[in-house]
Amino acid sequence: MIEASAPHKVILTGEHAVVYGVPSVATSINLRTRVEVRRTEKTTVIHAPPLSTRWVLSKSPPKEFEFMRRIFQVMQDRYLAGIMPNLDIHIHSDVEPGCGLGTSASTAVALTGGLSKALKLNLDKQTINSIAYEGEKITHGTPSGIDNTITTYGGVLSYSSERSEHIKLMEDPPEFSLLLLDSKKDRSTKKAVAKVRNLYNRRRKLVEGIFKEIQEISETLWAELQNSHDWERIGQLLNKNHALLQQLGVSNSLLDELVEIARTSGALGAKLTGAGLGGYVIALPPRGREKLVKERIAQEIGDRVSLVDSSRDGLELVGQLDH
Ligand code: PMV
Repeated sequence: MIEASAPHKVILTGEHAVVYGVPSVATSINLRTRVEVRRTEKTTVIHAPPLSTRWVLSKSPPKEFEFMRRIFQVMQDRYLAGIMPNLDIHIHSDVEPGCGLGTSASTAVALTGGLSKALKLNLDKQTINSIAYEGEKITHGTPSGIDNTITTYGGVLSYSSERSEHIKLMEDPPEFSLLLLDSKKDRSTKKAVAKVRNLYNRRRKLVEGIFKEIQEISETLWAELQNSHDWERIGQLLNKNHALLQQLGVSNSLLDELVEIARTSGALGAKLTGAGLGGYVIALPPRGREKLVKERIAQEIGDRVSLVDSSRDGLELVGQLDH
């Protein structure tokens, strides 16, 4: 059996602005999607309990599996001349799909990596990332590519879709914990990105001003994480970024309330993460007081808060196919 796994991610700063070429900083976290690949005598089937269903490769896929079909298509067209061995594929994720922690991206990356190993293609990470991006385009329309990139490489990464220094991986990223506050509200990246696009088309000067401020935040955050580790300053940067996301129209009263709860419970800073309009808020607890702040937040929102750690691990591939 082959096990391919890829981490989930949180965007620390710069979501939405990244779609317009502004650098965004993201970290992988210690939650993962695992894809198990086995050889089978029968036809190829993909089981993905988080998506509540299974897909027989020879049939047309349920809607939630469309991005995987694209990945199979690309692999077949590029490398297999239409011939595909029969595989039994199981996908498990530590979090629910569609919550903003990059489930579709980590599934796309782990599936591509697992297929690459199963088919003895030994693709490098750059190629796996680019194929996973094809899948992400099916899920998200015109994604910036940050989600698949951070889940491929892991660690702390600065990503810009339009600059020559496209992907910057931090050499020795610090370890830190984050609190995730779940709004329990479904969100759609496509809708949130369209909302910002609409504002951009109507009030371009205003939005460009906001993006400029976000860029400064991402650049300062990068320097802080790399060099000085001033966690209070980092918390302030998160707060500032949340205020700018509010101006972009992608926060709402639910998310603002969670941000407020996190701050009054002792977090150094808090903001929505990812597309917004639902999904998660991230909060930075002071070092050594992570559990205390979590408990205080839990008094307000119960089990909708969890503590995660940043992680350095990107895509991992182990095992081999039985013959
Ligand atoms: O799908 P999410 O919640 O991880 O959001 C992705 C981040 C955006 O900047 C909003 C969109 C993008 O393609 O980068």
